[in-house]
Amino acid sequence: MKFFIDTADLDQIKKAQDLGVLDGVTTNPSIMAKVGITGKDQIHAHYKAICDIVDGDVSAEVLSVDYDGIIKEGEELAKIDNQITVKVPMIYDGVKAIKYLSSKGIKTNCTLVFSPGQALLAAKAGATYVSPFLGRLDDISTEGLNLIEDIRTIYDNYGYTTEILAASIRSPMHIINCAKIGADVITSPLASIINLLKHPLTDSGLAQFIEDAKKL
Ligand code: G3P
Repeated sequence: MKFFIDTADLDQIKKAQDLGVLDGVTTNPSIMAKVGITGKDQIHAHYKAICDIVDGDVSAEVLSVDYDGIIKEGEELAKIDNQITVKVPMIYDGVKAIKYLSSKGIKTNCTLVFSPGQALLAAKAGATYVSPFLGRLDDISTEGLNLIEDIRTIYDNYGYTTEILAASIRSPMHIINCAKIGADVITSPLASIINLLKHPLTDSGLAQFIEDAKKL
């Protein structure tokens, strides 16, 4: 299972990379706005800075919602670095654009996916990744994990190679449950990844070992 971090904060990305378990980064317009990045040149420079920190794929989202605009932006983003994956929303023009960009060998991430049908369309269009948003489904009293399970079944039924990138992860349990279901990738805040390593029995066990080590 690949671990992506869902942030544009360079310090957090460096920290995750330093832990040695980071496989990529995802961003979206809200995430970019949070770190105060504005203007095309600054945005592109920031994506380049992220690519220079991590070894894996970096999702950069288009801001256009029309076919021509998505293609133009997608091709520009893809030129920044070969790690760039063009993130495209699950809309009519988005599906068309994913089909085109995939045919040109540009990696794509179909985002804002909330149903198995949307995920099926993304795979048929040739998306590299599909991003179902778990947490946002949970937010509206719908079991987000069921969507991951449904997509896994559909993709396995037909051997689609589109990777399931579970997004909108809010907790370590989301990560564990995605791993049980067989999501290919999770993208998560750093805290949820770090919290995976915590267990009180590890802490008390280590405290005892340190204490006993003094007798050696
Ligand atoms: O990158 C998309 C997704 O991870 C957003 O998460 O927490 O805003 O629902 P969230």
